[in-house]
Amino acid sequence: MCGALMASASRFYFYQFLSIILLVAFLARESTTLANGFSIKEATVHELQLAFQRNQLTSRQLVEFYLNQIKIQNPVLKGVLEVNPDALAQADRADQERRTKAPGSLSGLHGIPILVKDNIATKDKLNTTAGSFALLGSVMPRDAGVVTNLRKAGAIILGKATLSEWSHYRSSKAPLGWSARGGQGKNPYTLDEPCGSSSGSAISVAANLVTVSLGTETHGSILCPSSMNSVVGIKPTVGLTSRAGVVPISLRQDTVGPICRTVSDAAYVLETIAGIDTYDNATIEASKYIPKGGYAQFLKKDGLRGKRLGVVRLFYEFGNDTLLDETFNLHLKTLRQRGAVLVDNLKIDTIDEIIGYRSEEISLSFEFKLSLNEYLKDLVASPVKSLADVIAFNKEHPKLEKIEYGQDIMLQAEKTNGIEEAQKQALLNLTRWSQDGFEKLMKINELDAVVTPFFSFSDILAIGGYPGVNVPAGYEKGVPFGICFGGLKGSEPKLIEIAYSFEQATLIRKPPPLRKLEV
Ligand SMILES: *[C@@H]1O[C@H](CO)[C@@H](O)[C@H](O)[C@H]1NC(C)=O
Ligand SMILES: *[C@@H]1O[C@H](CO)[C@@H](O)[C@H](O)[C@H]1NC(C)=O
Ligand SMILES: *[C@@H]1O[C@H](CO)[C@@H](O)[C@H](O)[C@H]1NC(C)=O
Ligand SMILES: *[C@@H]1O[C@H](CO)[C@@H](O)[C@H](O)[C@H]1NC(C)=O
Repeated sequence: MCGALMASASRFYFYQFLSIILLVAFLARESTTLANGFSIKEATVHELQLAFQRNQLTSRQLVEFYLNQIKIQNPVLKGVLEVNPDALAQADRADQERRTKAPGSLSGLHGIPILVKDNIATKDKLNTTAGSFALLGSVMPRDAGVVTNLRKAGAIILGKATLSEWSHYRSSKAPLGWSARGGQGKNPYTLDEPCGSSSGSAISVAANLVTVSLGTETHGSILCPSSMNSVVGIKPTVGLTSRAGVVPISLRQDTVGPICRTVSDAAYVLETIAGIDTYDNATIEASKYIPKGGYAQFLKKDGLRGKRLGVVRLFYEFGNDTLLDETFNLHLKTLRQRGAVLVDNLKIDTIDEIIGYRSEEISLSFEFKLSLNEYLKDLVASPVKSLADVIAFNKEHPKLEKIEYGQDIMLQAEKTNGIEEAQKQALLNLTRWSQDGFEKLMKINELDAVVTPFFSFSDILAIGGYPGVNVPAGYEKGVPFGICFGGLKGSEPKLIEIAYSFEQATLIRKPPPLRKLEV
């Protein structure tokens, strides 16, 4: 009897064990592949659209996949700040529209989930807070211009991405990728700092928590996290995409752009969000740069053929790393083999002034105060009505807002009084440095673009409002790094040709390991 009990008990445990194994196998299968064999992980927008058309996939399945990935990985990675409670309903609507072949329902971003950085307004159940409790409860007057375009295209707003709080314009001491509301975002490759300020956007596409995302850049905030998290980022020409409804730093430098796993995905997102918005007048002037037929037409494998590329070896921020240098040189060889003409060892004439003087800092500081106060005034309701209120809020909530990180950048901005003599001089400096530096270099050498390692070129692109693209370029001791292509205003078509051709020639990106809490 005793023996029988043992046997049945062990059989019981055996079946329990077996059912756990089967469950684990089922979950593992479910988390990467559908029953019909279609794999969502790493799928591009184009592949997803094909799967929709072939009835291999629905938007609901896509959203469910990502919600599951967010549940598993986000406790570690903290790339997602809020999930949209309406995401599944939006997916069902997209599926319904596709079934009835509604116009536009079989292309572009229709039915594709996107995550937007938490400084981009959505007028729905999601909060828009730039990661700060000071903006929690603020009521948006309307969707941001770029979000209006996403909704028109039928994209699914999956949620808000974490970021460096206030796009890293509160404190120079705050860690990159940290915000009071979002916590510390983690690089999925290293579990270390992800760079910022569009940290959550880069983390989330890298780790397959979403298909595509939007970030914003004032100075490096798309290019740096894209480089560090091994994804593609496009920093568009300032004004090409609307900044209306985006928590601002400077309308002279701010821009909204895609962060995605591939150049192709980024091109689809860019063509969806670019365009005139009457709430951002800079989009009127910049609309002359938008090509008829959109950006996807520039996804050409031979896009490097005949391009003149200037090589600017800016290592000043990173010291002299011979290994990275070797990889970079190898990539230059690839660019040549693909038909590009390289003009090597170029130097921006004004680089020492750009790095040596504080003109950009002086400009951003007064612009931030003016534009943030404008943004806050436009809100329907908000706990804070001015930069001074934000500063006071941080002081009054020292624990919530980790006041130990300080708020030196905000305090500095609050002291400014619009355009005075120094501000005027600073702005003139930036214009002159761009004209006598980057523009001159491009013209004298008749270049289509420059190529630089990592995101070091974002200094130059920032102050002139120029576009740039980051493409994954390698991993050094497991740490990702990118290569950057930059050009004159409106050169996105050429940059996309170059970036796509380089990406297809190298195919360097590898997805990071699955990250979940240790239990
Ligand atoms: C927005 O913030 C409020 C207040 O914390 C919260 O109750 C709500 O769930 C948030 N919305 C979403 C979609 O997370
Ligand atoms: C855009 O320009 C028009 C005409 O100059 C002006 O009336 C309007 O207020 C501007 N809109 C914004 C949002 O600045
Ligand atoms: C980097 O260091 C190596 C050896 O120390 C030197 O040969 C090389 O010229 C340096 N490269 C740059 C770009 O400074
Ligand atoms: C402008 O640049 C000059 C150097 O060319 C520098 O001496 C001056 O301090 C700068 N002014 C401001 C306000 O940044």
